[in-house]
Amino acid sequence: MTEVLKPDAEAILKAADLIRAGEVVGFPTETVYGLGADARNPEAIKRIFRAKGRPQDNPLIVHIASLDMLKDVISGELPPQARRLAECFWPGPLTMILPKGSEISLECTAGLDSVGVRFPANECAQQLIAASGVPIAAPSANLSGKPSPTTAAHVFNDMDGKIPLILDGGACSVGLESTVVDVRATPVRVLRPGGITPEMIAEVLGEVEVDGSVLRPLKQGEIARSPGMKYKHYAPSGSLTIVKGAPEAVAGKICALYDEHPCESCIFALNEHLPLYGNRRVYSLGNDAKSAANRLFEALRAMDDMDVKYIWSEALETSGIGLAVMNRLGRAAAFHILEA
Ligand code: TXA
Ligand code: MG
Repeated sequence: MTEVLKPDAEAILKAADLIRAGEVVGFPTETVYGLGADARNPEAIKRIFRAKGRPQDNPLIVHIASLDMLKDVISGELPPQARRLAECFWPGPLTMILPKGSEISLECTAGLDSVGVRFPANECAQQLIAASGVPIAAPSANLSGKPSPTTAAHVFNDMDGKIPLILDGGACSVGLESTVVDVRATPVRVLRPGGITPEMIAEVLGEVEVDGSVLRPLKQGEIARSPGMKYKHYAPSGSLTIVKGAPEAVAGKICALYDEHPCESCIFALNEHLPLYGNRRVYSLGNDAKSAANRLFEALRAMDDMDVKYIWSEALETSGIGLAVMNRLGRAAAFHILEA
């Protein structure tokens, strides 16, 4: 049985002791919940992979709670582009790919000579890392293939009996995983979009590249720059189809598709379009892309809980955080996208 505790001082110390002892702990960040363990300890890292059922070749992100901790995590100094991004966006939902330091176990980076580093803004995450005194490797705390958890209850559903403790810090404020940026390239390259948008990065560095695989499946033989991108992800049990085009045309098409299976269907739509769907079953994505980011994983989990067989989703604009929403939605739909 997995214990779930509010992150008061005592619970943080208990979690930190577990981390130092090589155990795995579920904890909140501002993006999604993580499954944390000591990034220097190969046995602890193996426990993470086992708990998630994660493929061995998919590296983990290492979390720090001060720039001081970087010296054990990366090799050398932060390169200039990375330093500017750190000044602007750390602590926050940004992961930078950097040369790996010798303290980080090869199990953690899946054998790569690079390491993804993130300095989370969430207070509980910072307290846990600081109290542990070690860099914490943490993937999202879902079973491999499932949507990332944005509440402690999601983590409990996936991890009960597999880990000793979950810190319950409430719902995550961003709701999608961090932006992963390879800062060894010029221009820097976004491998996974998230709360720090390409527009925000371009404002700081002048330019940015977005990896081609963000809005399409990998081509046959194409090598994933971010190994996580090649795996099936976020998929609900029912079939998910995205429809794009002008809102009225999209709603018309979605209604027609829905009406073929009215008892087994559900629609994902923005609030402003709700009137277009009459009294059909709709899971609202909220007012805008930011709220859609916040609700998407909860929505996908809800579809499984409600045993929905057909999910029809509106497409969002791919500007700002809409890019991250469409990346996750696209992958959950195996990029099954119709034009209205
Ligand atoms: O918001 C987040 O990033 C959350 C929270 C817990 O911090 N963590 C998270 O971890 O989403 P995970 O393991 O679910 O996703 C990490 C992604 C994967 O796509 C992985 O392939 C990529 O980052 N990644 C990690 N290290 C990498 C590296 N050295 N080179 C390229 N991609 C890397
Ligand atoms: Mg994940």
